[in-house]
Amino acid sequence: MKFRSQRVAYWFFASALALLVLQIVYGFIMGFARVGLDGLHEWIPFNTARAVHTNLLVVWLLCGFMGSAYFIIPEEANRELAWPRLAYVQLISLLVVGVIAVGCYHFNIWEGRKFLEIPRPLDWLVVANVLLFIGNIGMTLWRGRQHTTTSMVLFMGLLFAALLYLPGMISVKNQTVDSFYRWWVVHLWVEGVWELIMGGILCYLLIKLTGVDREVVEKWLYLIVGLTFLSGILGTGHHYYYIGAPRYWLWVGGVFSALEPLAFLGMAMAALATARKGGRKHPNRIALTWSLGCAIMAFVGAGFLGMAHTLPQVNLYTHGTLVTAMHGHLAFWGAYAMIVLAMMAYSLPLMTGRRLWDTPMATWAFWTSNIGMVGMTGALAVAGITQVALERRLGLDFLVVQKEIEMHFVGLLLAAALFSTGIVMFIITFFRHGLPSDEALTPGVSGEPDEPLVAGL
Ligand code: HEM
Ligand code: HEM
Ligand SMILES: [Fe+2]
Repeated sequence: MKFRSQRVAYWFFASALALLVLQIVYGFIMGFARVGLDGLHEWIPFNTARAVHTNLLVVWLLCGFMGSAYFIIPEEANRELAWPRLAYVQLISLLVVGVIAVGCYHFNIWEGRKFLEIPRPLDWLVVANVLLFIGNIGMTLWRGRQHTTTSMVLFMGLLFAALLYLPGMISVKNQTVDSFYRWWVVHLWVEGVWELIMGGILCYLLIKLTGVDREVVEKWLYLIVGLTFLSGILGTGHHYYYIGAPRYWLWVGGVFSALEPLAFLGMAMAALATARKGGRKHPNRIALTWSLGCAIMAFVGAGFLGMAHTLPQVNLYTHGTLVTAMHGHLAFWGAYAMIVLAMMAYSLPLMTGRRLWDTPMATWAFWTSNIGMVGMTGALAVAGITQVALERRLGLDFLVVQKEIEMHFVGLLLAAALFSTGIVMFIITFFRHGLPSDEALTPGVSGEPDEPLVAGL
């Protein structure tokens, strides 16, 4: 680690993990409710748990992205963060808004809009918070006068993510129009600007971990950004098929969203090619494992499983079923959760000065969580396909079908237990690193590749 202010990332990461744990707790509440164990129903009904589960997901990922940016941007700009203390204030205010929102959901104070349930007045606090964040890293870049492709793509991704939050705040009574704009946020985030954030972080990690020239890795990044914009923007149409929007969206959405997996394929190929080419072996192998794992799982979860239901002929039957939940889990996990965890695995030894890479527990954490998540995806796939067949093809009643597929949620719970074990191991490894220390600023201590200290480099 080069700059003292980079360590603010530690607190963003620790907070992100705390919120992830809470997200998982609400996942289990829903999972148990699905098999009839719904003892908490009075206080936390399924719809409340669902909103809390998905909103916490978004908040912990944003927290992880912000932490990653606070670590990466000073280094790429080659200077301390512009306002380090403001970053701590921003973290605390983000957590306060998050906690208030989650509290509101338990008292039925929310907007009935999936993923954007946060009450409107709180939206303004989110805007203020994000402005502080963008201001801080923007000023760091500006003063740094050193602009790498990686840092610019990361910054643009974060800036556009902030701007795209605004259409979600437009108040509309007509449900079709409301839904139309809701997707500008939800879709253009995960299939647009968040991909830039992911691409930027992945690029940074590959440069650091493989030692391949920046120019080579960044060339890939340009290609991925191009593919993302080409396919992702009009790909929004895959949410406009049957909501009351004009019919031409069937064609536009179908064709362009079918191209979207290319961007994810590009990322997976770039990551694998770079890793193969990398001559230098960085000692932090587990961070590389998470980075490659992320690129591959993002392709499977977002690209492959997205493709599975993106054509209008298929989506006619699968829309809003557990097929969507199947894809939602693996896509969010592969693309965004894993990139944040990769960044944590990479930066922790550098912030704390403790080289805890490649411990057996770190390796187990990777495999257990990933196998668990694949298992969860499988359980949801079986449940989803059965639901489509019984409810949408044979026309059975919704609740009758939900009863039929109850058994598959036992499978989901078992896989989720495995997944959670992996996450617990990741968290133990995280805290074993101890706190960020000044010692880590001493050249050589943290074992960065340009510090050939570690044996076998
Ligand atoms: C990392 C990227 C992605 C993430 C995190 C993601 C996540 C999600 C989530 C959470 C939903 C449910 C949204 C809601 O109902 O409010 C969804 C829906 C959908 N996604 Fe993705 N997705 C990603 C990429 C893709 C890609 C690349 C495709 C197509 C190739 C795709 C196709 C779809 C379709 C068609 C739906 C609508 C499902 C329905 O009608 O119920 N997704 N996605
Ligand atoms: C480990 C424990 C977890 C369990 C038991 C669990 C369970 C569930 C359940 C039961 C639902 C509701 C599905 C329905 O509508 O019936 C859900 C929704 C969702 N979960 Fe999880 N989940 C867990 C972890 C995660 C993680 C780690 C992620 C992301 C990385 C995630 C992402 C999502 C998303 C995006 C949705 C909304 C899907 C949609 O829009 O259809 N979950 N989860
Ligand atoms: Fe989409």
